[in-house]
Amino acid sequence: MDITAPAVEDYIRGLLWRHDEPVLLEMEAEAKERGFPIVGRMVGVVLELLARSIGARRVIELGSGYGYSGYWFSRAVGPDGELHLTDGDPENEKKARDYLTRAGLWDPVQFHVGDAVSALHSLSGDFDIVYCDIDKYGYPEAWRAARERIRVGGLFICDNTLWSGRVTGALDVEEFRDPSWTEAIKEMNGAIASDERYLSTILPIRDGDTVALRLK
Ligand SMILES: C[S@@+](CC[C@H](N)C(=O)[O-])C[C@H]1O[C@@H](n2cnc3c(N)ncnc32)[C@H](O)[C@@H]1O
Repeated sequence: MDITAPAVEDYIRGLLWRHDEPVLLEMEAEAKERGFPIVGRMVGVVLELLARSIGARRVIELGSGYGYSGYWFSRAVGPDGELHLTDGDPENEKKARDYLTRAGLWDPVQFHVGDAVSALHSLSGDFDIVYCDIDKYGYPEAWRAARERIRVGGLFICDNTLWSGRVTGALDVEEFRDPSWTEAIKEMNGAIASDERYLSTILPIRDGDTVALRLK
């Protein structure tokens, strides 16, 4: 099920033509060719916008793939910021380094190959943003780790939190993954909603993006 009607998404994307940079177009073409699940341009702009709106300087991504979402965060934090990218696949580090270097966006990046939540634990200090896009069974643990590491006024952002509508339970959607992934997403969504330190909601764009602002 499409959360955002394709015609609406095409319309929004059409308005984002100013971002037609050669490297971004290459990254989007690779995703299309390989069926690799990048967040896409409509969400990418939202990531940059949210990061800029809180003046984010220190960001960690859990599950970076080959750097597409990182492209937008790097634009926001700038060359003197700190952007930690994480992925279990070393090939993704090579690709991210190549793409983001050519885009002039590598300067703030430190890439950690291995488990994303372990990388978060290995770093000290708080973050302005923890962004989560790992394998979905890991979402509850990622939230538990992230919620303590976000500064007051910072954000937890998480992709795929509507999971093509499966979280509603009202849809007869063929599972293409382990059904426990849906349960894990629901568990995390419920935990975020009941955490009184955070003001949160799910933006119904693309596959659903949680945005949670730390208040206390
Ligand atoms: C959906 S893709 C990320 C896409 C990326 N956020 C973007 O929009 O460009 C998920 C990535 O997370 C990685 N991944 C999944 N679970 C992980 C984990 N527990 N630790 C580190 N990487 C993980 C996968 O290798 C994959 O590249």
